[in-house]
Amino acid sequence: RQNERESLLIVLNFAKTFFQETLLTTDEGKSIGLSYFRERGFTNPTIEAFELGYTLDQWDALLQEGLRRGYNRDLLEKAGLILIKEAEAGGKQKVFDRFRGRVMFPIHNVSGRVIAFGARILKLDKNQPKYLNSPETSVYHKSQVLYGIFQAKQAIRQEDVCYLTEGYTDVISLHQAGIKNVVASSGTSLTTEQIRLIARFTPNVTILYDGDAAGIKAALRGLDMVLEEGLNLRLLLLPNGEDPDSYVHKVGADAFKEYIRKNSQDFIDFKASQWLNEAGDNPLKRAEGISDVCASITRIPDLLKRQTLSQRVAQVFHVSEQSVISEINRLLRKQQ
Ligand code: CTP
Ligand code: MN
Ligand code: MN
Ligand code: MN
Ligand code: MN
Repeated sequence: RQNERESLLIVLNFAKTFFQETLLTTDEGKSIGLSYFRERGFTNPTIEAFELGYTLDQWDALLQEGLRRGYNRDLLEKAGLILIKEAEAGGKQKVFDRFRGRVMFPIHNVSGRVIAFGARILKLDKNQPKYLNSPETSVYHKSQVLYGIFQAKQAIRQEDVCYLTEGYTDVISLHQAGIKNVVASSGTSLTTEQIRLIARFTPNVTILYDGDAAGIKAALRGLDMVLEEGLNLRLLLLPNGEDPDSYVHKVGADAFKEYIRKNSQDFIDFKASQWLNEAGDNPLKRAEGISDVCASITRIPDLLKRQTLSQRVAQVFHVSEQSVISEINRLLRKQQ
């Protein structure tokens, strides 16, 4: 087991280096991959810090180099790097690279070893996914990983807060702008394991999801889970159509930090403003909103925190504290 794990990590590291060399030294890598990163405003130190790469638009560039270096097919497949299509009647078995003609984002574990890849297509195309990711392997469990945690962990400790974004490029662009305490859930819904990983470095999380309907929905889905783990949560809505990557490029690092400072909300204000927007002066909708915020408060393990937050809910919705407390207690009884 231990040997298999180490072999996978070694072959993944070889692939990472091969993709870096392809990006930096081949004509195709430079003219396509490197110019793509340049257009996105990534500097050389950034490309180096995240070990970004490129895969040639060929069937088996990695496979051939891997075999030449003595890595066997079985290992390359177990690492998620190649695909083996069994022969159909009369045909031949096909073996080829999983990632081709894409810019490569290595995914590191918390100690900095490469365990998987995210791969972006260069020009959006409706017949192909924008990002192609490694499959689950014995070293890569998607639900347990946060993109960027290795590059971010020291800054998360120092700043005592972790910014949680959706995507690879959000992490990279904020890091380049000097905001280094950033990780990404990589488009999937947040898991308890990912939250516990953050909790190793700080009890404070600020969600910076994309400023679109999908981003808001994802933030609301992740919210209770963060509270359940006992972490302190704030959320920030970016202007519509922006994500942290696009927005930091637009306004610059200082304005971005100022935007976070001015516009991040605790989860009560965040949820309340979503509800109050929708409810207007419809009293039933407002009641539904209060109940929904109370439901989130019931997820918090600490009794004292729950009590203090009840006062805040009462203020925000202009109702008595007693009615908030009764609603929380009603929900808690229902859960038992
Ligand atoms: N994602 C994915 N597969 C897709 C689309 C998205 O795995 N087909 C994940 C990626 O980790 C991506 C994240 O979801 O970074 C957020 O998606 P999106 O906002 O669409 O992409 P961006 O990160 O903004 O990427 P870009 O700026 O390159 O368009
Ligand atoms: Mn495992
Ligand atoms: Mn999005
Ligand atoms: Mn983006
Ligand atoms: Mn995005």
